Amino acid sequence: MNENNHVILIGYMGAGKSTVGLELARKLNREYIDLDTEIVLSEKKQIPAIFEELGEPYFRAAEAQVLKAVKGEKVISTGGGVLYFQDTGRWMKKNGTVIYLNAPFEELYERITGDGNRPLVMNNTAASLEQVFNQRDIVYREAADLIVSVSKRSVEDTLDEIIVKL
Ligand code: S3P
Repeated sequence: MNENNHVILIGYMGAGKSTVGLELARKLNREYIDLDTEIVLSEKKQIPAIFEELGEPYFRAAEAQVLKAVKGEKVISTGGGVLYFQDTGRWMKKNGTVIYLNAPFEELYERITGDGNRPLVMNNTAASLEQVFNQRDIVYREAADLIVSVSKRSVEDTLDEIIVKL
């Protein structure tokens, strides 16, 4: 038997992982964990400062460490790059249901453009963010148990689909 039975939300920046995660946790009466928030609390630094002062690989390792320390049956929203550390994807599959919140790049880009709290957005052009999206879309799909569209859709609607399919 698996150690944990989490619901884990994955997907690109701007997919609404935190918004959907918080509401989903309420509906399922489970505790909610936002990995980005947990890292900020444990490092006592904002994400751009962690990237700048400690580097992206450090952030990825910290994110995986925080994720793997979550026990029980939580709803977890992850950062968009969470799968880019060693065996994180395999850990997720063994420790819960992985849901990929998916939308076309153009929609996601509109939501994230100009966001100073996202180092990737600040340091990359739209074209390279799209390349990253295209590469990650494949990785998210491979890691997911469920793929749910968040394109042009209310949070309520997305939640209803998730709850039916869980
Ligand atoms: C990242 C996404 C961010 C955050 C960090 C890196 C990424 O989280 O973890 O800025 O590599 O896609 P969100 O997906 O919640 O924006």
